[in-house]
Amino acid sequence: MNERRKIGAAVIGLGNFGQLHARAYNENPKSRLVATCDSDARRLNAASKKLGIRARRRFTDHVEMLKDLDDEIDVVSIVTPDAYHCKMALEAARRGKDILLEKPMCRTLDEADRIIEAVRKYKIRLMVDFILRFDPRYLKARENLSRGEIGKIATLFARRHGVRQFARTHGKFSDLFLSTAIHDIDLMLWFACLKPTTVYAEGTREILRSKRVDDAIFCILKFPNGIIGSIDANWTLPESSPSPLESEFRVVGSRGVINVASQDQGLWQIANEQGLKVPDVTFWPVVEDKLLGDLKTAVGHFVTIVAENKQPLVGPVEGKNALRVALRLKESASKHQVLNLSW
Ligand SMILES: NC(=O)c1ccc[n+]([C@@H]2O[C@H](COP(=O)([O-])OP(=O)(O)OC[C@H]3O[C@@H](n4cnc5c(N)ncnc54)[C@H](O)[C@@H]3O)[C@@H](O)[C@H]2O)c1
Repeated sequence: MNERRKIGAAVIGLGNFGQLHARAYNENPKSRLVATCDSDARRLNAASKKLGIRARRRFTDHVEMLKDLDDEIDVVSIVTPDAYHCKMALEAARRGKDILLEKPMCRTLDEADRIIEAVRKYKIRLMVDFILRFDPRYLKARENLSRGEIGKIATLFARRHGVRQFARTHGKFSDLFLSTAIHDIDLMLWFACLKPTTVYAEGTREILRSKRVDDAIFCILKFPNGIIGSIDANWTLPESSPSPLESEFRVVGSRGVINVASQDQGLWQIANEQGLKVPDVTFWPVVEDKLLGDLKTAVGHFVTIVAENKQPLVGPVEGKNALRVALRLKESASKHQVLNLSW
């Protein structure tokens, strides 16, 4: 493809995940990374150099970047801490850019409404980066469910356990509900094709008390038609765990069961004094210096829908639905009360 016809992409936030977004645009034949932005100048320069972005295309301020390179930027990935998602999305939308917005799409329902309004007003596309919607295991599970292979859903169960490092990195700007459980909330709404009417959650705060974050949360979601969902999330696993993230998703139906055992990546390394390692080969593995996995597929989908003038598989309305449930669960845990959800 002619370089000039490629989708011009900018990434705001060049932390752990933003650098992977940037790589995905660089490695996609339909897009090219044209600008980078991070408020931390040292990180911006170090990461941009590796990504092949010249100094004049590096910015510490996203407004300046969007203004200076307006002609070249078609799409923007927003990969900053949650508190910045809304204001950056509004600014990019105002300038007519299509947006790939990290989850959670923002922090409040009011912010979500402002984003949805801006998407409509400026006629742009906005995709929320729920990468598990692009994971072949979940896609296959949902396809089998839709074909009626396990009958009607009775229960949905999700486990998502992370190492303590997540409490240090993501606990600084988010929490277990908005950062972690939200993936499974989105999956449950997507699988059930229904929205929960009642939620209840409890959290515990002992091991990570000094970090001011919950160690673990347990959530119950009651859907119409008698479906019950349950989410068990934590970031208390020791750093020595074979994998930084263990997860499972189980759907029990009237005629069978579907289980996505995400912690089993299909590759076990039993080697040297570090013991057993289960490296990521599905979410965002880098192999032979190329990004593979769900994030690559998600960015690829975003680039394709922009190139073909289509709508994303997961947009701001789905982002807001998952956010509404996560916020209500959080409130339930703080009040120790069962709460209703109105839609
Ligand atoms: N979809 C997923 O599976 C997934 C996985 C990991 C992270 N995320 C999301 O990505 C976002 C970032 O996470 P991360 O792990 O990369 O965090 P991080 O802390 O590693 O990176 C955040 C970056 O944003 C920069 N930043 C902060 N304020 C800024 C500003 N005003 N302007 C420009 N840059 C600014 C920071 O300097 C930092 O480099 C979070 O919302 C997180 O939930 C999603």
